[in-house]
Amino acid sequence: MTVLQVEGLAKSFGGVAAVQGVSFAVEAGHLLALIGPNGAGKTTCFNMLNGQLAPDRGSVRLDGREIVGLKPRQIWRLGVGRTFQITATFGSMTVRENVQVALISHHRRTLGLWPRARDLYRAEAEALLARVGMADQAERAAAVLAYGDLKRLELAVALANTPRLLLMDEPTAGMAPRERVELMALVAGIVRVEGIAVLFTEHDMDVVFAHADRIIVLNRGELIADGVPAQVRADPRVQQVYLGGGTTFGHG
Ligand SMILES: Nc1ncnc2c1ncn2[C@@H]1O[C@H](COP(=O)(O)OP(=O)(O)OP(=O)(O)O)[C@@H](O)[C@H]1O
Ligand SMILES: [Mg+2]
Repeated sequence: MTVLQVEGLAKSFGGVAAVQGVSFAVEAGHLLALIGPNGAGKTTCFNMLNGQLAPDRGSVRLDGREIVGLKPRQIWRLGVGRTFQITATFGSMTVRENVQVALISHHRRTLGLWPRARDLYRAEAEALLARVGMADQAERAAAVLAYGDLKRLELAVALANTPRLLLMDEPTAGMAPRERVELMALVAGIVRVEGIAVLFTEHDMDVVFAHADRIIVLNRGELIADGVPAQVRADPRVQQVYLGGGTTFGHG
């Protein structure tokens, strides 16, 4: 089932054509990697998908519904989550409280009730923390978490909104290589079971080739490849872009 369908998406900044008529789709339960050199237009694409940036042209459909023109908040309500923005967590609250706040927000309760809300969605929050392997850290302050644990908390916060689509812009940035593969393995395990579609960008090709169901490649705003990992790895245009930029694919 197609969750996200993007057609002819385009955006220029002054004279720079950051994204030039890009089309692709993401299926439920699949991970689609969006790769390309620095400045290729990946983040610009993400910003158009979640409503932060208005495209010059093109269509973005979520479960068949056009979302271009909607505000970020409305798009979030429709089930588009964006993970791994560090500032999304409240450091002074515990790990569990962070997930409870996300659940309350999802269920549209007001934060004015917070002093009495200690037990609101507590069991649901604990269940989500268990899914990301954070059950034993529920009572710790988010501010003291190790970086990898913070990423797992952020994943639980994103899942609290029961997303249809997760947008992850460089989810493993700043992590050690082994932690990166583990984080994406956790994400992949959860989204495949839940049928959540994932679009992620990633500079670590080991992570991309370990977990992506499909890969699309942007270069200077243009989509130059779209296929399963083996196809993309063998694509001469892709190899030229990566070898030319001094980056090579992992695993030969
Ligand atoms: N707000 C903006 N104003 C002007 N130019 C911009 C703006 N945002 C992006 N650009 C330009 O658009 C192009 C694409 O940038 P973008 O950040 O989307 O690339 P990226 O693929 O995410 O790169 P990276 O891998 O470094 O994160 C670049 O040439 C960039 O300088
Ligand atoms: Mg970027």
